[in-house]
Amino acid sequence: MGLPRIRASVYRLRTVASHIVDSLSLGKIVQIRERLFRTAATGKPVFRLESGDPSFEPPAHVIEAMVTAARAGRTHYVPNAGIPELRVALRAKAQNENGIAVASVDNVFVTHGAMHALFAGFHVLLDEGDEVIVPDPMWTEVVENIRLARGVAIPVPLRRSDAYEYDPGEIERRITPRTRAIFINTPHNPTGAVLSRATLLAIIEVARRHDLWIVSDEAYEHVIYAPHEHHSVASLAGDWASRVLTIFSFSKSHAMAGLRIGALIAHSELLCQRLQKVLRCSINGVNSLAQWGALAALEGDTGHHAVMLAEYERRRDVLVGALDGIAGVRTFMPRGTFFAWIELEAALYERLGVATADDISELLCREGVGNTPGDAFGAGSADAMRFSFSCDTAMVAAGSQILRRVLLGRDPA
Ligand SMILES: Cc1ncc(COP(=O)(O)O)c(C=O)c1O
Repeated sequence: MGLPRIRASVYRLRTVASHIVDSLSLGKIVQIRERLFRTAATGKPVFRLESGDPSFEPPAHVIEAMVTAARAGRTHYVPNAGIPELRVALRAKAQNENGIAVASVDNVFVTHGAMHALFAGFHVLLDEGDEVIVPDPMWTEVVENIRLARGVAIPVPLRRSDAYEYDPGEIERRITPRTRAIFINTPHNPTGAVLSRATLLAIIEVARRHDLWIVSDEAYEHVIYAPHEHHSVASLAGDWASRVLTIFSFSKSHAMAGLRIGALIAHSELLCQRLQKVLRCSINGVNSLAQWGALAALEGDTGHHAVMLAEYERRRDVLVGALDGIAGVRTFMPRGTFFAWIELEAALYERLGVATADDISELLCREGVGNTPGDAFGAGSADAMRFSFSCDTAMVAAGSQILRRVLLGRDPA
């Protein structure tokens, strides 16, 4: 008797024509990564230039803190919004390091990575059909989290001629009665752009003039190359700071990507109440051991930031150096993040006898070189590609040479 009932429910599921989740992609990066894993399993070398996972280990004191916590039996349910010790430390970090005034630890939420902060943040902020202005290109998951929260992402194109800075004037021109928020990501994935203080101030002014929220994703705050500097949006926003949701991540700053821990700072009482509910129903508290590790990351020595940054800078120069001077490839020296973004011109397609960035991606994948075609970051970036230099330095060096050879249209030596 049970079987017909199951069949009927499957049928009902199939006839729901447009479930919101069906509109999300599985992500080109994931597909390319899985292909590289299959290649690696055959014993062939692969070069993980698609990945955004730092090659470094978390600092020793972070691992130590997690082991100690596990041995001390700190493995039970934890408070929904984070262990109090970590919320206190995050508040201190936001205030002392980022210059963000945080009234209380109740404004601090520990999330399952910045990804989950985006999920929770857009869910508490948006009503169905609300518009969020986003840079284009943008790391895909931002737009998809907006969609998942029943919002609509409104892209603002970034241009190489402007060093991919988000233009406050262009943002303002896209505001409609449905606009709810402006999304900012600096340093920016995928272009490596860093927004200047002046640009951030101008964007905050636009938000203030039009009564808009700002969601500020600062996942790459520590991966930024001199002379460029990171400015936390809320620290510049004056009386508008209460309308800024700030997102942090431990993945890039402390090489803790697999530990899945991030944070969200919100100032509105209503949003904080809603966040408690979304966190309860989505994760019910982040993994306790990761939280003790994150606490150690904030309270312990932070010398690893400089060590990682110096290595990223070396890798950046190797990768961008290998891409420089190739006809049909326009490079941009990233100012932050560990991504190199290139634009592709007709000369490149003609030389390689291909029509699209996907075709070039295929040529590279056959050689074991990870990559991400630009349209994975927005429809406006069909003629672009992203390469990551977060994998280890030897891999970046070897992968860059093959990348150069493929883009020059040369056969293996
Ligand atoms: C711009 C941006 N925001 C957020 C995230 C998510 O980071 P996490 O690992 O903390 O979820 C990423 C990860 O690549 C990212 O590129």
